Amino acid sequence: MKLTIVAATGGIGRQMLDQALAAGHDVTAVVRSPGRLPGGVRAVIADLAAADPAALESAVAGADAVLSGLGPRSRADAGIASRGTRAIAAAMSAAGARRLVVVSAAPIGTVASPARPHPPRHDPGDAFWMRHVLSHVAKALFRAHYADLALMEDIVRDSGLDWTIVRPPRLSDKPLTGTYRTAYGQNLPGGWIVPRADVAHYMLRAAAQPDTIKQVVGIAS
Ligand SMILES: NC(=O)c1ccc[n+]([C@@H]2O[C@H](COP(=O)([O-])OP(=O)(O)OC[C@H]3O[C@@H](n4cnc5c(N)ncnc54)[C@H](OP(=O)(O)O)[C@@H]3O)[C@@H](O)[C@H]2O)c1
Repeated sequence: MKLTIVAATGGIGRQMLDQALAAGHDVTAVVRSPGRLPGGVRAVIADLAAADPAALESAVAGADAVLSGLGPRSRADAGIASRGTRAIAAAMSAAGARRLVVVSAAPIGTVASPARPHPPRHDPGDAFWMRHVLSHVAKALFRAHYADLALMEDIVRDSGLDWTIVRPPRLSDKPLTGTYRTAYGQNLPGGWIVPRADVAHYMLRAAAQPDTIKQVVGIAS
């Protein structure tokens, strides 16, 4: 497949890049630091906080799928998930690319956003501790980031593209297992953690699976 991988120097992004190259896909990487890519990878340089629309359109034109591991590396990147994803979706619409797979986070189904001001109080997949303790702690700690991801999800749902939103819980740097669980429209019971490599593996798989279009997918080990 012809794939465009956004944020290919990030944790999930680099895993998607390495796995896509190993599988023989034709990859374009959208990154702000091309020096951190392996040699020979086609790169489009873009700071997605203020991306040049023409550069982004050239990066996604002709792509069978655009996969994004975009998220804030530090406080300086606050708001980047929504801002950058808006720019990517606009570039895809302009260039006629349709398939978009993005990473969000497990708690976002219960986070209010402009398009979903009254989300459900609980995710149906969350068990007692997640529901009543951990999700509240995480939401207090990551309030601004989760608001950015919830807005990103609004933008993706409203994009008119063939989208898939993947919601992992805590990420680890453990190696690929390929034995993760997924569920449409909910988190996974007891799903506390998942390797970045497994999330990347699923995002690549989902890109080629039409039944994941317009689905929010929970994933966990
Ligand atoms: N950490 C967790 O446990 C957890 C759990 C659930 C969900 N998530 C979500 O999953 C996302 C991905 O996780 P990760 O560990 O792969 O994140 P990461 O390693 O921090 O990667 C974020 C990527 O976004 C890129 N980026 C940030 N600002 C940018 C900008 N202005 N222009 C262009 N690129 C920009 C970074 O580029 P550089 O490489 O150049 O810095 C990096 O490639 C997180 O951001 C979060 O929203 C995280």
